[in-house]
Amino acid sequence: MSQFLSNCSVDALATAAQSLKGGSLVAFPTETVYGLGADATNASAVARIYEVKGRPADHPLIVHIADLKYLEQWISDISEYAIALAREFWPGPMTLILHRSKLAKDFITGGQDTVGIRIPDNSLALGLLEAFHKLGGAGVAAPSANRFGQVSPTTANAVQEELGDYLSDTDLVLDGGQSVIGVESTIIDCTGELPRILRPGAISIEMIKEITGLEVSESTEMNSDDFKQEDIRVSGSLENHYAPKAKVFLDQIPVEGSGFIALESINTPDGVMRLAAPTSVEEYARVLYSALREGDHQNLDSIYITQPTGDGLAIAIRDRLSRSAKGR
Ligand code: TXA
Ligand code: MG
Repeated sequence: MSQFLSNCSVDALATAAQSLKGGSLVAFPTETVYGLGADATNASAVARIYEVKGRPADHPLIVHIADLKYLEQWISDISEYAIALAREFWPGPMTLILHRSKLAKDFITGGQDTVGIRIPDNSLALGLLEAFHKLGGAGVAAPSANRFGQVSPTTANAVQEELGDYLSDTDLVLDGGQSVIGVESTIIDCTGELPRILRPGAISIEMIKEITGLEVSESTEMNSDDFKQEDIRVSGSLENHYAPKAKVFLDQIPVEGSGFIALESINTPDGVMRLAAPTSVEEYARVLYSALREGDHQNLDSIYITQPTGDGLAIAIRDRLSRSAKGR
């Protein structure tokens, strides 16, 4: 059992940073989803992340830092468009894949020559990271704080539910309330001439085009049969991810006794349990994962979901939902 910190004062964050430095795991809120953090330079601490998540060890992790000044030590070179993206969207829901430096060891990158970096936009996360840097830490590796393949947690309670049995009593869970965005960061591969979106998120293709002035490619074919081996490295791109226990059906008429998620403007059909009625696409993203969890708490066999239409965040929502619907 880990300790649960809900009153995260500066002192509490300093203590949590010391735990990280000592090799323990600290789960913390970000604006996207909660992360399970470890010192990104400590091989045995990072090994515990894989153990606690039940995640294959060749899947790379994102390194979280508090400020652009900590970026250089992690990377070997960076293109102008990547610098433009970093300046514009960090802190924020964006992960950049960059050429790694020697500091980014194989146990972080899954043996690849690249490293994923993010500056999260959440005051608790930034406070923790800043306190960790003060202790001489270089960065915090943090995947979403769920068991491999399951729905990412957007509250500290959901972290406890996912990982409580696997964390030890020196590990910590920081409670920062609900994540405001609710789906994971946009991952942008910045190692080529043009930016390439590996995972859609709140930073949209239009926003990337506007800042870089470049064409942006999307790995939307990750859903198709010609799914490439290299893409498996982006574990969030595996087809059977983000799956609750209930079976998920998309854009179909719900059967009685099932759960139902749709925008508020869509009426609840007779005999189904409404799990969420968001009034906007932003709210849809924010409540989606907790609504899927609620379906499992209610022991529902099936959840019917009417997907949001349109661009931007709706693309990220449909990406996750299409994987949820593939099941476990
Ligand atoms: O919003 C987020 O990104 C959250 C919060 C906690 O920051 N983190 C997150 O981490 O979603 P994770 O590990 O659940 O998903 C990160 C994805 C993984 O699928 C991983 O394979 C991919 O990023 N990734 C990390 N480093 C990579 C690299 N060098 N090349 C390609 N993919 C990479
Ligand atoms: Mg994840």
